[in-house]
Amino acid sequence: ASLGSAVAQAQDFPTKTITMVVPFAAGGPTDTVARLVAQSMGIKLKQTIIVENVGGAGGTIGAARVAKAAPDGYTLLLHHIGQATAPALYRKLSYNANDSFEPIGLVTDVPMTLVARKDFPAKDFKELLAYVKANKSKVTYANAGLGSASHLCGMLFMTAIDTDLTTVPYKGTGPAMNDLLGGQVDFMCDQTTNTTSQIKSGKIKVYGVTTKARLASMPDVPTLNEAGLPGFEINVWHGVYAPRGTPKAIVDTLAGALQVALKDPMVKQRFADLGTEPVAESRARPEALRTYLKTEIERWAPIISKAGVYAE
Ligand code: MLT
Repeated sequence: ASLGSAVAQAQDFPTKTITMVVPFAAGGPTDTVARLVAQSMGIKLKQTIIVENVGGAGGTIGAARVAKAAPDGYTLLLHHIGQATAPALYRKLSYNANDSFEPIGLVTDVPMTLVARKDFPAKDFKELLAYVKANKSKVTYANAGLGSASHLCGMLFMTAIDTDLTTVPYKGTGPAMNDLLGGQVDFMCDQTTNTTSQIKSGKIKVYGVTTKARLASMPDVPTLNEAGLPGFEINVWHGVYAPRGTPKAIVDTLAGALQVALKDPMVKQRFADLGTEPVAESRARPEALRTYLKTEIERWAPIISKAGVYAE
């Protein structure tokens, strides 16, 4: 399109439905965050934002889909820390986590919880550790594939206890939670956005949280750091991205709508119910996400290569 029409396009944006790709199955923590943010951004943009779940390969299939989409602002990606761990986990990624996207902004930091099926025979973390070590060939650990936060937490957990476990991969921890509730899988590490209600209703057991300090939403649950894994800490941060080459005027419009969504009382309340909160406005800007993603890619690469975990 000529410069004139491109400028006009950017000024009128959005004139049709926007798709927000979630690279995990519906019903999981990433999907939960995305649907809340999409609904609120859509109100601000006066356009519907539909969430499309594109699961598989720990989030890299959905991310690749957006990396290749038209850079017109109508296809977005909402992804979490997996955007930063995939480069070290996958030897052949079809996109570059930094260069194939235009960052729109950070959304929220979500804590993780180590949870097990209701009748798992351990009343606390110490007993879980003993049981897992004594039954390592039998115990099963659920995750959402190489690149998911549940995989990352599991990898750090197995490295910390020097024990390899049988992992059962799902397209997201939404489906994984169904099997945990049904007792088909033993335990997993998943985000509070997916585990809080099941923990509070007693349908699953919780052994610890992956934050430095205990959570206000679950004050009697120890941190894994105090329970027996010194320094064990994972914060599942989430960001929104558009394809590289999306015009700056459109990126700014999307970033503005995200910042309004993060101040939306409905979003803040739902996040609070789920054990999290929107990031501070200073972090919700495109450049803040670009910088944070870069530092996170650099931070996780040595940890992942030390664990010796990767996919060809
Ligand atoms: C994860 O472990 O990263 C979760 O599965 C993501 C999700 O399902 O939303």
